Amino acid sequence: MYTNPFHSINISDKTFLVTGGAGFIGSNIVEYLFLHHAKKVIVLDNLSTGFIENLQPFLSRADFNFINGDICNIDDCNKACQGVDYVFHQAALGSVPRSIKNPIATHNVNATGFLNVLLAARDANVKRVVYASSSSVYGDSKILPKVEHQLGKQLSPYAVSKMTNELYGEIFAKTYSMEIIGLRYFNIFGPRQNPQGEYAAAIPLFISALRQNQAPALNGDGEQTRDFTFVANAVQANVKAMFAENINTKGDVFNIAVGERISLNQLVQVLKELIGTTVEPTYRDERPGDIRDSLADITKAQTILNYQPQIKIKEGLKYTLEWFKKI
Ligand SMILES: NC(=O)c1ccc[n+]([C@@H]2O[C@H](COP(=O)([O-])OP(=O)(O)OC[C@H]3O[C@@H](n4cnc5c(N)ncnc54)[C@H](O)[C@@H]3O)[C@@H](O)[C@H]2O)c1
Repeated sequence: MYTNPFHSINISDKTFLVTGGAGFIGSNIVEYLFLHHAKKVIVLDNLSTGFIENLQPFLSRADFNFINGDICNIDDCNKACQGVDYVFHQAALGSVPRSIKNPIATHNVNATGFLNVLLAARDANVKRVVYASSSSVYGDSKILPKVEHQLGKQLSPYAVSKMTNELYGEIFAKTYSMEIIGLRYFNIFGPRQNPQGEYAAAIPLFISALRQNQAPALNGDGEQTRDFTFVANAVQANVKAMFAENINTKGDVFNIAVGERISLNQLVQVLKELIGTTVEPTYRDERPGDIRDSLADITKAQTILNYQPQIKIKEGLKYTLEWFKKI
């Protein structure tokens, strides 16, 4: 998946910190960095939603350092940033419903933890921070496709926490002369996305159900649409944002998606064909805080970062199913 590099500079003399590196997207970034011979990779993760197994291939490497720590603790962040050139910040508590149930936990990790990471990166003279924002910041805006400068009102504490990241990202970059870039991910899916638990995302939940010939449960009428984005595209965006030259690094943000959308009903249909089952989904109430339709305009990332999503939904689902067969 990551054989072809997304960067042109030599990274064998560069040290990287991946916060949330034991999670889904973070562990894919770690995999990429090692495949391309990074000098050293440090992961800071408290394993609250991530898994040490996601880092299994790297644990015994001398050039890998796993810090079992918390971004809410500034000492952990300072320790993790020592000697680091570049920070990929992925650690956060995902999920809109989780944030509605426990807004303080989401705020502490996503907003205050983010501040800690920025402060530690500043004090360690890190060259650039690329962090995970979210399409949830578009909130109730009905405009499709979503363009970076046209925001609506956020619809959940999670969305507010990601909006807070963007506000602080810009202020920190300007106030402390840092280089900071935010990536607004649109429904990322792929290998190592957790299919278990109350807050699991749609694709791993549906795959898990369909593989057992059980009906996937859809919220609402299933006609809501999403710009589902395979994780390798998100990794590409992170790498390109980290090394892009002559761009605005003062807190600029980019949509990261494919620029195509399908409904959840269509998604289930594709999965049924790939898995080879005829089981029909069931429908339940809509979820509060959910956006009805989501589709990104990715022109800005394409033009400025040279981001080119290479893997479309069907191919991405095939890779994801291969991973499911191995776990
Ligand atoms: N997956 C998506 O579709 C999606 C969409 C938009 C934004 N995002 C954002 O992308 C980032 C990565 O998401 P993911 O899908 O890989 O989720 P994930 O839950 O798999 O990964 C998050 C990681 O952060 C770690 N973490 C959580 N709290 C921490 C803390 N206090 N200190 C240290 N580590 C902590 C978790 O243990 C986990 O390993 C998050 O910021 C998320 O909000 C994801």
